[in-house]
Amino acid sequence: MPRKILVTSALPYANGSIHLGHLVEYIQTDIWVRFQKMRGNTCHYVCADDTHGTPIMLRAEKEGVTPEQLIARVWQEHFDDFSAFHVNFDNYGSTNSAENKESAQSIYRTLKANGLIEVRSIEQYFDPVKNMFLPDRFIKGECPKCHAKDQYGDNCEVCGAAYAPTDLIEPFSAVSGAKPELRNSDHYFFKLSDPRCQNFLREWTRGGSLQPEAANKMQEWLGAEGENKLTDWDISRDAPYFGFEIPDAPGKYFYVWLDAPVGYMGSFKQLCAKTGIAFDDYWKQGSDAELYHFIGKDILYFHALFWPAMLQHAGFRTPTKLFAHGFLTVNGEKMSKSRGTFITARSYVDHIKNTEYLRYYYAAKLNGTMEDIDLNLEDFVAKVNSDLIGKYINIASRCAGFISKKFDGKLGDCDAAASSEFRSAFNDNEIARCFEERDFARALREIMRLADMANQYIAEKAPWAMAKQEGKEAELHVVCSTALTLFRDLTLYLKPVLPELAAQVESFLNIAPITWSGAWQPLPAGHTINTYQHLATRLDPKLIEAMVAANQESLKPMTDSHSETRHAEHQQRQIEPIAETINIDDFGKIDLRVARIVNAEHVETANKLLKLTLDIGEEKPRTAFAGIKSAYDPEKLKGRMTVMVANLAPRKMKFGLSEGMVLAASGSEPGLFILSPDDGAQPGMRIK
Ligand code: 2FM
Ligand code: ZN
Repeated sequence: MPRKILVTSALPYANGSIHLGHLVEYIQTDIWVRFQKMRGNTCHYVCADDTHGTPIMLRAEKEGVTPEQLIARVWQEHFDDFSAFHVNFDNYGSTNSAENKESAQSIYRTLKANGLIEVRSIEQYFDPVKNMFLPDRFIKGECPKCHAKDQYGDNCEVCGAAYAPTDLIEPFSAVSGAKPELRNSDHYFFKLSDPRCQNFLREWTRGGSLQPEAANKMQEWLGAEGENKLTDWDISRDAPYFGFEIPDAPGKYFYVWLDAPVGYMGSFKQLCAKTGIAFDDYWKQGSDAELYHFIGKDILYFHALFWPAMLQHAGFRTPTKLFAHGFLTVNGEKMSKSRGTFITARSYVDHIKNTEYLRYYYAAKLNGTMEDIDLNLEDFVAKVNSDLIGKYINIASRCAGFISKKFDGKLGDCDAAASSEFRSAFNDNEIARCFEERDFARALREIMRLADMANQYIAEKAPWAMAKQEGKEAELHVVCSTALTLFRDLTLYLKPVLPELAAQVESFLNIAPITWSGAWQPLPAGHTINTYQHLATRLDPKLIEAMVAANQESLKPMTDSHSETRHAEHQQRQIEPIAETINIDDFGKIDLRVARIVNAEHVETANKLLKLTLDIGEEKPRTAFAGIKSAYDPEKLKGRMTVMVANLAPRKMKFGLSEGMVLAASGSEPGLFILSPDDGAQPGMRIK
């Protein structure tokens, strides 16, 4: 009986590009799904962009677009990146969909009806300039422990201390720079502390759904029997927030982490609508379908506690298993922009092109545990060239030519003795077991053992020598046909990892798409194959060097996914000639200050100017007229930080006195860009 399987990968946030770290998970999941499909199981793979929350809302604002426009653009980028790496979702949705909203709201309503939602007033930091409550990550200040400046509201990156935002010394809003105020607001909580949740989770986390290391971690979080360690989960955020409004709670929104996992359902619902699959078959309590979530070990808490508790108490089935993996390091270290090892999917494609090389390398490292995996760039080149090209591709490239040239493209009989020897030395079920258990590293070791055997057979028979000897035609035919049958079997086993290459091989061998059941049957004598064409080339280490160099932050003009093209454009553009040299004293005469734009308005009768009110920490704010009307909507400028010349002689203008000048960049192309200091700068700080 084929199994019914639903598989997900974690939903990537819609405010950043896909990078090689993300790809560990998507490639791992995709290989597993392709394996299941090849085995004849019914397997659906869904995912979506995770679109809600404050960072996405603020980024859209900064870019001057709506959150919907931002997430639509990023969705396309993500989708293209995944396609380039052959990550083949059956549906790729968005958490900002009608289906997801419906599911999130209905789950919430059921939890509420079951008495698992509670409203409590909490005190939280509020930004009086932006008029919004601040998430911990958007409050900065001095670490209460080690006194490092500019630390986030939840933990210190210097000494590692964890604390509440209210513990920070001299806190400020990372959004506007303003001093935050403590304000009260009603928040909605999911009562995880309720005995029903605790008891259920205690059982569920021990029930075999978690890897042993993950199950141990959960026991720690749950505490000993009778100990009530779980606290209620705050699932609401106040407006302004980009997300779904909570039913019957105007101005309150679901926290992004509530509707994110529900996004698995939302995306699956879209698949059901497209294909006629029955949603309840997979999600109803008691369903016989299997549900697997592939996730990073950093989001276990959400998937092993909140998510199953929500599902259980809202009448849905819980996950069969969570497959958590470790993080990616590159050359043994955390990915780093300064070392050029923070590599985006796009940049890999631009430089290396062949994405199956990375799939192969990741597969060779993945063993189904939560251990971190390392992408060693030198080893990457070596492994691709020695295994993929040197062992696998080599079999076809050494034997196919003879079939075309000498036997009119037709295969002959297979070497029965050799075939049975291979078969008995090689365990088909073992490979399947390794794939099933996500021990791809082991599967590939087995597959390469078969490749070694095939190469040894070819080396012993030396078809190139036979081709030169008279009367050896028949033997040459058998040897090459046997080698190509072995090559077909190797392709079968590699197909979950290398789907595109497998498709090329199928077309070269002129055979139907290979499935697992076709293994170890000889290709029939008389079957015509197509002329061999180059299937893959060696990976040139120079391409890797170029990719790393291009990713080195200091060399990059911009950090978006099209930086390479822009870089080329940039170099061709004429810049204004550099002005006459000055010395440091000349420069010191200019007093530049960080300024907060307290107000911005149109000036009637002036078609280029905006009137700005600027706070530079003095008693009275200053007024300045800036010629930036063509580029900025005054409403969008309010609250923003910028840079002004503070000691320029005041100038009397038709509209009033201008007491300073705001700095902006412009060039030969259209566009005008005012400057902003980095997060944390305060009004009045001097720029030197
Ligand atoms: O950690 C993350 O990148 C989240 N966007 C993952 C969400 S997974 C699921 F719960 F939606
Ligand atoms: Zn500290």
